[in-house]
Amino acid sequence: MVRLGLAAALLAVTSVANALKANTPEVLPGAYIVEYENDQASRDTNAFVGKLGGKASLRKDLRFKLFKGASIQFKDTKNAEQAAAKVAELPTVKRVYPVRRYPVPQHTVLSTGDAAVEMVKRQAGGNDTFEPHLMTQVNKFRDAGITGKGIKIGVIDTGIDYTHPALGGCFGPGCLVSYGTDLVGDAFNGANTPRPDNDPMDMCNGHGTHVAGIIAAQANNPYGIVGAADGVELGAFRVFGCSGDVGNDILIAAYNMAYEAGSDIITASIGGASGWSEDPWAAVVSRIVENGVPCVVSAGNDGSAGVFYASTAANGKRVTAVASVDNIITPALLANGSYEVSGKTEFFGFTGGDPGSWSGVSLPLWTVNYNITDNEHGCQPYPADTPDLSGYIVLIRRGTCTFVQKVENAVAKGARYVIFYNNVGGTISVSARVDGVTGVAMVPADTGVAWVKALEAGSKVVVNMANPATAPKFLANFENTASGGFASSFTSWGPTFEVEAKPQFATPGGYILSTYPRALNSYAVLSGTSMACPLAAGVYALIMNVRGTKDPKTIENLLSSTAKPNLYRKDGVSPSGLLAPVPQQGGGLIQAWDAAHATTLLSHSSLSFNDTDHFSPVQNFTISNTGKSSVTYSLGNVGAGTAFTFGSPGAITPVTLANVELSKDFASLSINPATFTLAAGQRKIVSVTATAPKGLDAKRLPVYSGYISINGSDSSALSLPYLGVAGSLHSATVLNTADTLLSRSRDSNNGAILPNVTFTLPPAGQANDTSFRNRTELPKLVVTLAMGSALIRVDVVPLTNCSVAARNAQTVFGVRTLGQPEDFPVYYNPRGTLEYSWDGRLADGKFAPAGLYKLAVKALKIFGDENKAEEYDSAETVPFRIKYLKEDKLQRRYRLSGVAQGQPAVEKRQEQCEDDERSAKF
Ligand SMILES: *[C@@H]1O[C@H](CO)[C@@H](O)[C@H](O)[C@H]1NC(C)=O
Ligand SMILES: *[C@@H]1O[C@H](CO)[C@@H](O)[C@H](O)[C@H]1NC(C)=O
Ligand SMILES: *[C@@H]1O[C@H](CO)[C@@H](O)[C@H](O)[C@H]1NC(C)=O
Ligand SMILES: *[C@@H]1O[C@H](CO)[C@@H](O)[C@H](O)[C@H]1NC(C)=O
Ligand SMILES: *[C@@H]1O[C@H](CO)[C@@H](O)[C@H](O)[C@H]1NC(C)=O
Ligand SMILES: *[C@@H]1O[C@H](CO)[C@@H](O)[C@H](O)[C@H]1NC(C)=O
Ligand SMILES: *[C@@H]1O[C@H](CO)[C@@H](O)[C@H](O)[C@H]1NC(C)=O
Repeated sequence: MVRLGLAAALLAVTSVANALKANTPEVLPGAYIVEYENDQASRDTNAFVGKLGGKASLRKDLRFKLFKGASIQFKDTKNAEQAAAKVAELPTVKRVYPVRRYPVPQHTVLSTGDAAVEMVKRQAGGNDTFEPHLMTQVNKFRDAGITGKGIKIGVIDTGIDYTHPALGGCFGPGCLVSYGTDLVGDAFNGANTPRPDNDPMDMCNGHGTHVAGIIAAQANNPYGIVGAADGVELGAFRVFGCSGDVGNDILIAAYNMAYEAGSDIITASIGGASGWSEDPWAAVVSRIVENGVPCVVSAGNDGSAGVFYASTAANGKRVTAVASVDNIITPALLANGSYEVSGKTEFFGFTGGDPGSWSGVSLPLWTVNYNITDNEHGCQPYPADTPDLSGYIVLIRRGTCTFVQKVENAVAKGARYVIFYNNVGGTISVSARVDGVTGVAMVPADTGVAWVKALEAGSKVVVNMANPATAPKFLANFENTASGGFASSFTSWGPTFEVEAKPQFATPGGYILSTYPRALNSYAVLSGTSMACPLAAGVYALIMNVRGTKDPKTIENLLSSTAKPNLYRKDGVSPSGLLAPVPQQGGGLIQAWDAAHATTLLSHSSLSFNDTDHFSPVQNFTISNTGKSSVTYSLGNVGAGTAFTFGSPGAITPVTLANVELSKDFASLSINPATFTLAAGQRKIVSVTATAPKGLDAKRLPVYSGYISINGSDSSALSLPYLGVAGSLHSATVLNTADTLLSRSRDSNNGAILPNVTFTLPPAGQANDTSFRNRTELPKLVVTLAMGSALIRVDVVPLTNCSVAARNAQTVFGVRTLGQPEDFPVYYNPRGTLEYSWDGRLADGKFAPAGLYKLAVKALKIFGDENKAEEYDSAETVPFRIKYLKEDKLQRRYRLSGVAQGQPAVEKRQEQCEDDERSAKF
């Protein structure tokens, strides 16, 4: 089907936009969320939908305590935009939002494994030694017997495999997974009809089961995994089918259901690029937080996109956005193999690659040299005296040249099997499809070194491999000396386009071992902010146990102020001397025990000084001493790296993470008072006056940030993160006019067309009929946003006067327009590329007549006034002609019956109109 809508970019013009495309949430054609006016609280949704005269069907009744409305699906998606606008005008309706689709959470599956090989229990002496817990002080709660008992955590995700022995083994009251539901069913893909049922089982995805284990895995497992709060009850709200997306109407329903089911905390490791807290899903989550239930949401996995790439619903006001740091170990679930050397049998672990036909392979090892520090091992063709390698497994050290090249060199001498040994910690799954090779695998560095030493000593080493898919797996933990404790490179950066501080703080999300569905090997190591968020949810439960409060703001403030900021580390480079910016790590890595026991409380979790146009230099916050004795505080300012959004003053697109430049020019703060003593029970307002860093090029939009340090005489050490932008967001170019152009629907490279190309469109309204495809092509509008825009409008500008519509064209913002193409305008757009193939349909449901047109694109500047033309960045496409195929009744009958004859022709009248227009003047 030719999808006419705001599809995510298929191919982007720059590599940055390429990275963005997959995450730009798509609009679902004809589907809308309607929010009723508050006084219509008890209205009957069926009656409401009934009054729409059969034009729409009910997608989902959304009548909840905190949100009253419905989502509806217009049967005629062609005219939906117009119909929705009419619905929005009804007195009973407060607002109408399009349904957007969010993808299944993206995360990296590093390895999976069952529990066939019993491991040494890692809970030495009964104490918690799980590394993500040691990093966040969660182990201290567990060692003290605090497990989140009595707290209910709603998990909005892919469901939970509650039959997993480490997740309680059952579903319902009395079970670990004690409540929840399936809102969608297995076959749901985001576009089809959800088939809800009562069973939130996760058999086919795994994401939600991994998340659940991070919160509450029971210690009865062979890998020493334990949830942060294994005494809580979990609610599983399944919003994804086995594959595909979820609409925000389902997410809004799931949040409200989790809220009404009495969840004390709601966690969701779901998101999509946004940067706007006004997004409807984010707005609903904000409302739940306002009503007293903390909502933690993963910050997003688009770190590579650089600064200003916040994700919804994490970017909502009062929603807690959780960033990721890497684990201090890299666990791996390795397949179990054995080898024989000097008459002894030893075991080793490996990770199968592609190809991976290792079943029953038992061969001696051979290696080209014994140099265990050779970076270019196996990169050169093997010497002439190399034996026939078909009877060996070739052992090669990882490094320098590609895996494929190394395998090719071995295959040139007859090899069929290659094992790589790693040159860093852990293992990875190697892909090296080379003709002649049937198995590749990787072993950890120490295994490879031991084998080389044995070969060098003249021993024969015979390796017995196994099918990596079915071999028993065991857990190997490698120290993560490279990135352990630093912000994960994938963690998305804030702030929002309106300078809300995002994310709030970080927990370990990179290299996390947890439970996985039994159908998918039971355990897995995954990476993503999806893995960070549930740990934060568990920590909220622990703090609720200790402090007795469930107030979202109190707990967020405690976690932010006690978190530990870390230095900035660029991937593959040693850490800089600068603290990582607040837009990357928020308050830093949470320290849960300190948060639970802090007696000094702050009124805020962060401060924003906004940008230069809206500079709010004076920000107040309150420090309260809730302890039993008086404390003397001294406050200071510790700057974090100032991140330049753009690489140069003329650039309009933010640089990718690899090119983010940090400066040590910090903001200076005047803190008043900077030292004072508070008696027990007293509080004080502290006033902070910021001076943005001087001498930085405002055109590069420097985002400065740092921490107000608050050191108490009781040895408390708190910090309050702040940020601001030393430039004008309103002045930033939002529309990349060079990459906003007209292309062809079939050109996946988005090449620009020359002026005056004629597009032959399918008969009006039949663009989805594939039988027209070979004879038609649609104009494709490519809009590239350099920065986010709250509103994009597109005008269809007639360059002819031969149609009534053209003669009656209105003038809006100085351009003559027939109106906007269907689906426009679009609101709250992230930066990146959007593509739109136009079948001639306008937002009012009519079709633009055949003729010569151009499209005028207007993107509202950040903080711009939508009623003023000058507040938009504008671009126009080249002129292009459209005409429609026209079929008569007989032709239509033939087409529908599948008989290929009577092809429709372009109507003569259209040609005539074009001849007229050639002399027309506009
Ligand atoms: C376990 O933790 C407790 C509390 O921190 C500590 O007193 C005890 O020594 C620890 N036991 C072991 C074996 O480490
Ligand atoms: C091993 O390889 C390293 C790195 O290429 C090189 O510096 C060293 O000289 C080599 N050692 C031997 C014994 O060839
Ligand atoms: C920055 O200022 C604008 C304009 O007043 C406002 O809309 C926005 O909310 C402000 N941002 C923050 C974080 O206060
Ligand atoms: C900040 O606090 C001071 C007193 O400490 C007060 O005069 C001022 O009005 C406050 N400013 C804001 C923005 O609340
Ligand atoms: C194509 O559109 C027609 C109406 O124009 C509709 O009846 C039909 O179901 C659509 N087909 C698909 C595959 O969407
Ligand atoms: C469209 O063209 C392709 C390639 O020329 C051909 O294989 C296909 O059958 C055509 N489809 C229709 C519906 O005519
Ligand atoms: C496109 O067509 C219009 C109207 O016929 C004409 O005025 C214009 O010069 C043409 N442009 C180009 C580049 O050929």
